[in-house]
Amino acid sequence: MRKDYIEAAEPADQETAFVEKFWTTVWEQEGGPQGKIDRIPRKDEYRTMAPYLADLSKGARILDGGCGLGDWTLYFARQGFSVVGLDLSRQTVEQLQERFPEAEFVDGDIRRTSFADSSFDAYFSWGVFEHFESGLQDCVREAFRVVKPGGLLFVSVPLDNLRHAILGGFARPRPAGSKLRFYQWRLTRAELSRELEIGGFEVLKVQPISKRQGVLRSLHHEFGLPYEWLLTKGLSAILAPLIPGSLIGHMVLAVARKPRNGTQDDGQHQ
Ligand SMILES: C[S@@+](CC[C@H](N)C(=O)[O-])C[C@H]1O[C@@H](n2cnc3c(N)ncnc32)[C@H](O)[C@@H]1O
Repeated sequence: MRKDYIEAAEPADQETAFVEKFWTTVWEQEGGPQGKIDRIPRKDEYRTMAPYLADLSKGARILDGGCGLGDWTLYFARQGFSVVGLDLSRQTVEQLQERFPEAEFVDGDIRRTSFADSSFDAYFSWGVFEHFESGLQDCVREAFRVVKPGGLLFVSVPLDNLRHAILGGFARPRPAGSKLRFYQWRLTRAELSRELEIGGFEVLKVQPISKRQGVLRSLHHEFGLPYEWLLTKGLSAILAPLIPGSLIGHMVLAVARKPRNGTQDDGQHQ
């Protein structure tokens, strides 16, 4: 597992407060929740999940762990599922509750939720499990507790792709006096599988996703092309299908199942 760092003035402790403040600011800058659900069916995550969700009855209970602007929560609520969007950013959750009363939003931490054991038929979480330096197990353990036996977990985290492995060998110069703090973990496919298996899940599928986003970032960081240029966007659309996901995928997505009669293991099989 590889660590990514970020420049930040805040002290290295108070990690949870840092994550909450960071994302509250990001969502504020994006204008807050707007219910942009039209894009969901085109997303890699949705295409992967859809066949598994087809087996769930309408009204099945689903958790969106780290729901951010709540688009996914809303999308599934409008499909007839009983979805809960959970997020650390209290301000964003308050805005979501106010703007979209038809869905349920809760402010809280996916590492220690208030939900009863075996509350959910499915749990999905995009880009959240990687945010804490102690690792992913607190998130995985709580997911295992709240998912029903036989229930599904869909989780995405940043992929430690070949581009990062190569670049990792070249430390970038930092301006004098810059303060770095932990930002997120990056995982390979095998590492994500292992994290879920340690937590007691049976892994059904693991695949790199978001290739276009990966190419966009590479064009920006390695070739200096601004994100907003049409050229950058056009090139990433053309190049992404031609490059293997393991080289350029921005995220890795796993589908896992809690065994019907399974128990969490002790995480000792190293
Ligand atoms: C990368 S964003 C992803 C948002 C959303 N899942 C999406 O795909 O649009 C990460 C989100 O997870 C939330 N988050 C981070 N750590 C969390 C935690 N321990 N519990 C609940 N939410 C958390 C952040 O506040 C932020 O909204």
